[in-house]
Amino acid sequence: MRFAHRHLLGIEHLSQSDITAILDLAETYVDMNRQSTKRSDVLSGLTQINMFFENSTRTQASFELAGKRLGADVMNMAMQASSIKKGETLIDTAMTLNAMHPDLLVVRHPHSGAVDLLAQKVNCAVLNAGDGRHEHPTQALLDALTIRRAKGRLHRLNIAICGDVAHSRVARSNLILLGKMENRIRLIGPPTLVPGQFAEFGAEIYDDMNEGLQGVDVVMMLRLQKERMDGGFIPSEREYYHRYGLNAEKLALAKPDAIVMHPGPMNRGVEIDGTLADDINRSVIQEQVEMGVAVRMAAMDLLARNLRDAA
Ligand code: NCD
Repeated sequence: MRFAHRHLLGIEHLSQSDITAILDLAETYVDMNRQSTKRSDVLSGLTQINMFFENSTRTQASFELAGKRLGADVMNMAMQASSIKKGETLIDTAMTLNAMHPDLLVVRHPHSGAVDLLAQKVNCAVLNAGDGRHEHPTQALLDALTIRRAKGRLHRLNIAICGDVAHSRVARSNLILLGKMENRIRLIGPPTLVPGQFAEFGAEIYDDMNEGLQGVDVVMMLRLQKERMDGGFIPSEREYYHRYGLNAEKLALAKPDAIVMHPGPMNRGVEIDGTLADDINRSVIQEQVEMGVAVRMAAMDLLARNLRDAA
């Protein structure tokens, strides 16, 4: 399996065959993760540092478990408590860590482009765990694996991405990935949250959810990213739920076997009905979390093979 990249910075840089290679390898890790002994040594001797400059529950836990299950030495930097607070720049922090010879650096940062910049300054492999509104490649890959397993394929599907597209790196990475794999994508939300320029990605835009959901195979809901809003995007959460919140009634407009996805964390009763989110017959939200560990194991495994080849 060839993966000709030093870093995993965005879906933008990946080809169809790169995406397929990661997903195929991830399948083997899904099986491994379901065994009682979850242990491989493909990263043994390697040091993985997780640097999260933004809060994260599932992504950080998922990268940490992924590294540990593959035998890496994993360190989580508490960035809140670090020298950043004393005014050290991102690059100085990165250079300091670089001098300790990590092999894999997993970085989340609130600014779009910060992770790419950092990757240019260090000698190790860098994985983007989300940068601003730009990209979140492992999220799109885990979503792709979840879809492929539920639908038996990852092409020629009708996929609706609904809600706060404007502020979402998850939406952006998914748009790029699902487009590369030749799916039809609809973006659903109010014009304030789904600006017209997203049509550039080849997506159809709907502001009426009842229209947009007709006949789709996959409904991907997004969190209303209140922390990235400076007011004026929605009239009220109640009104938003009424028009754009997913419930069983709206889901009935999609294909009868349509799946419901959400990257988490969810605002129950704002973008999605809590009961529907928990309905194991329709919702694959827990499976997304499971696939996340496997996809991150696959991505780090592939990058580590390149590190070893280069050594
Ligand atoms: C997403 C993120 O941080 O971009 N969460 C995640 O990684 N699972 C989406 C979000 O915060 O809404």
